[in-house]
Amino acid sequence: MPTISVQDTVGQLVAQRPARSRVFEGLGIDYCCGGKKTLAEVCERKGLDGLTVLGMLTALDASEAGSTPGAVHALAMTMGELADHIEQTHHAYLKRELPRLEAMVGKVAKVHGGRYGWMLDVQRVFGGFKEELEAHMMKEERILFPLVRAMEAGADAAQGHCESVVNPIRVMEMEHDHAGDALAEMRRLTDGFTPPTDACNTFLATLDGLKALEADMHQHVHKENSILFPRAVKAEAELRERIG
Ligand SMILES: [Fe+2]
Ligand SMILES: [Fe+2]
Repeated sequence: MPTISVQDTVGQLVAQRPARSRVFEGLGIDYCCGGKKTLAEVCERKGLDGLTVLGMLTALDASEAGSTPGAVHALAMTMGELADHIEQTHHAYLKRELPRLEAMVGKVAKVHGGRYGWMLDVQRVFGGFKEELEAHMMKEERILFPLVRAMEAGADAAQGHCESVVNPIRVMEMEHDHAGDALAEMRRLTDGFTPPTDACNTFLATLDGLKALEADMHQHVHKENSILFPRAVKAEAELRERIG
């Protein structure tokens, strides 16, 4: 394991060792959409001491917990394998969870929205989030990921696609930022997904589901923004150099 420094980006730090995301989640550090910032930059912005956080990461690396058996090592995958993994894990999760949570959020907003008006705002934010994310996944599955797989298959396959990966990637990153904003808004509205003391089981399960959705999205966007997309940009530049 190479030594780490406060000049490493938070995205790189998690890419090298996925368990480090737990330290960042605990401190409220955004390592997915904000993955391009260095540890020094995010700490300064949040009023944290960079060297202390670095010490927490190093301690985690040295501990048993830092090894996370069964964790997916996205860095060891080919781009095609990573695109497959993202579709089979994170996209499949969203396709299952978004309709289920939509129904639950709707039910809770209808029954408890009078007393807990913020649930009506959660319903509105969730509706927009779901719609945009469904369109976003479709673009990745139909345009960007096939382009990445073709590029990896070699120059011949990629020559059929005249479009550069840079443009769709820029759009995907913007959409990730937007999804991240919606999740942050839902976190704020629900006071960190905390249920009211008299919450019924559906209310509890809904907030729990939204919290799990946020955690899965952080992992998902991290794998795209910090691992798959930079590799695709680099691979395209190398390919263009080779084929002139
Ligand atoms: Fe995705
Ligand atoms: Fe995405």
